[in-house]
Amino acid sequence: MFKNQIVAITGASGGIGRGLAEMFIAEGATVAISDLTLPTETAKEIGAAPYVCDVGDEKSVIAFIDSVQTDHGPIDIYISNAGIGSGNGRYVGGASNESWQANWQVNVMGSIYAARALVPSWVERGSGRFVITASAAGLLNQIGSASYSCTKHAAVSFAESIAIEHGDQGIKSHCICPQYVRSNMTKGMPMAEGSKDGLLEPKDVANALKAAIEADEFYVFPHKVVKDYFINRALHPDAYLSGMRKLKAKVGEAFKNKG
Ligand SMILES: NC(=O)c1ccc[n+]([C@@H]2O[C@H](COP(=O)([O-])OP(=O)(O)OC[C@H]3O[C@@H](n4cnc5c(N)ncnc54)[C@H](O)[C@@H]3O)[C@@H](O)[C@H]2O)c1
Repeated sequence: MFKNQIVAITGASGGIGRGLAEMFIAEGATVAISDLTLPTETAKEIGAAPYVCDVGDEKSVIAFIDSVQTDHGPIDIYISNAGIGSGNGRYVGGASNESWQANWQVNVMGSIYAARALVPSWVERGSGRFVITASAAGLLNQIGSASYSCTKHAAVSFAESIAIEHGDQGIKSHCICPQYVRSNMTKGMPMAEGSKDGLLEPKDVANALKAAIEADEFYVFPHKVVKDYFINRALHPDAYLSGMRKLKAKVGEAFKNKG
């Protein structure tokens, strides 16, 4: 399906990024993967080309994009997948300014830097596909992490802006919104391992993206139930908030029981 397409993915040394890379490679694409350190091993294992990219640093994002285009040709699909999360501390907003800023740089600016570098040439040629790995937290909320929730909401909004501003110029945008997926981010996380909606595998996310591209759909819901929660939040905001408080109380109990 993606034969001869050039795909660039950030934060792809493992987890969801690696799963996405494997799907595109299986579909015939040439895939460049990047991470904070050179993902040599992963690249060798899956047949991708490795690059270094710190998505919070605009120069590094531009260097990644330029290197991929010099080595392989114009990028057809860019996947802004790198992401970080951090806890609130005892009270909401309690994380340090540095931590809030880091979440903003990685979860939001990383996509903006890449879009700024790619979209003008995509508009000129009339095609290009920008994918952001946001989160269900970008449509709902991540209990215990206001900085993750706020920045993932911003990530969803930026993906939407791409679709609105450039959709009529041949540019596609997709926003991946999973709940918990097995990766380093969720390792040992009781909320993920005990999630009632299931802990998915990275390949499930990749298959959901493939299906959304085939169906020409903006949102990618690897956990289908997220769409229902999103609709419910819009229709019944107070019931949604009270449900989230109940869930928070339950999660608190689970943490206590874990000791
Ligand atoms: N795992 C989940 O349950 C889940 C759910 C929803 C959304 N997500 C999102 O999926 C994406 C991938 O996460 P994952 O679950 O595979 O976890 P992961 O920790 O395996 O992958 C995240 C990757 O981002 C990289 N990274 C961190 N800071 C970076 C930076 N400044 N520049 C470049 N790379 C950086 C990390 O080195 C890591 O390889 C993230 O955006 C995450 O927020 C994950």
